[in-house]
Amino acid sequence: MAPCARGRDLLAAVSESVVGASTIRSFGVEDRTAVRLDEAIESHRKAATTAHIRSSVAFAAGQFVGGITLAVVLVVGTWLAATSRMTLGELLAYLFLVGLFTQPVQQATEILNELQNAVAGWRRVLEVVDTPADVADPGPDGVDLPRGPITVDFVGVGFAYPGGPPVLRDVTEYVAPRSRIAVVGETGSGKSTFAKLLTRLMDPTSGIIRLDGVDVRTVRFASLRARVVMVPQEGFLFDDTVLSNVRFGTDIPREDVASAFTDLGLDAWLQGLPAGLDTPVGQRGESLSAGERQLVALARAYLAAPDLLVLDEATSAVDPATEVRIQRALDSLSRGRTSIAIAHRISTAEAADEVLVMDRGRVVQRGPHSRLIAQPGPYAALHASWIANQQAGVT
Ligand SMILES: Nc1ncnc2c1ncn2[C@@H]1O[C@H](COP(=O)(O)OP(=O)(O)O)[C@@H](O)[C@H]1O
Ligand SMILES: [Mg+2]
Repeated sequence: MAPCARGRDLLAAVSESVVGASTIRSFGVEDRTAVRLDEAIESHRKAATTAHIRSSVAFAAGQFVGGITLAVVLVVGTWLAATSRMTLGELLAYLFLVGLFTQPVQQATEILNELQNAVAGWRRVLEVVDTPADVADPGPDGVDLPRGPITVDFVGVGFAYPGGPPVLRDVTEYVAPRSRIAVVGETGSGKSTFAKLLTRLMDPTSGIIRLDGVDVRTVRFASLRARVVMVPQEGFLFDDTVLSNVRFGTDIPREDVASAFTDLGLDAWLQGLPAGLDTPVGQRGESLSAGERQLVALARAYLAAPDLLVLDEATSAVDPATEVRIQRALDSLSRGRTSIAIAHRISTAEAADEVLVMDRGRVVQRGPHSRLIAQPGPYAALHASWIANQQAGVT
């Protein structure tokens, strides 16, 4: 068990240092990371040494007992044969039988060792298998959402992460079909949680969420995933071309992918890439900027043709040209659909029909940008800080 657990720690330390390499470098914590890695390796080495000493002792003990038994039989048998109480043939038969007896005993010590490893592995498998799914698909008993722009209805929705404090409190909001909503608020106010509940990545702790009047918990996953598409904050890209990343395992024709970029006003951007649609995006999309990765995700969402689009804007800085492109793409993408964008940029909030302002898990203001900006309150304050950041050159 011990080496197995330590092995996991080691794996975690190694993978974090590889995956988080850029973060580690940018914070200049290479030394601390190296120390942590050394500690994990040392602890794994100790655990492995202990385990091997144990199994070696068991193996040697088995061999020793076998050897002693053989020696005793040989000595006693020779004495018996010498005193004519046993024939030579009987002695040889005994020696053969002793071999038959000690071999399995030695094998047993090895098997016991293997068994320990197997049990530890099996426990890990059971742990994973027993992890309950956070949300369950109602399956064939579920209903399908009717087609067309979706209405969203939050009724007294509360949410807390397991063992944590409430993150959403009594959220009751209605979103009309085809309206474009921007959700804004300080970091930690619950915006991403709101989006995750909406797309049923989690279920609320209290209250009900209805899409088109239907409780989302009763909607079949297939129908939900086809009608509601979420563009996450940091979309995952595979180490492949732009084209394959937009296709994402489907067999959408190349021309359709190209025209998706055209429809979203991203032609010029695509032409500017070294090989257009065939440009490799690099590992996890590292050859593209965070904003450009979202453009790829927006094209993917466009081809999925959802009726409700949920967008969690990338928080990372986006250069002004990319910001304009995202805004334009988002405009075309949300046309005729209900869309809810978690906004980190003024342009998104300004372009929305209505802004929902969140503060510590509650919706504290709601209305069009032009109205909210004209009155003192959380939105005006947030807007002022955005402007100040922009002037300071931070976005
Ligand atoms: N997976 C999680 N487990 C526990 N707490 C979380 C988790 N994700 C977010 N939180 C907490 O929930 C609160 C709201 O987070 P979030 O919805 O991500 O806010 P926002 O998107 O507005 O920054 C924060 O206090 C955050 O620390
Ligand atoms: Mg967030």
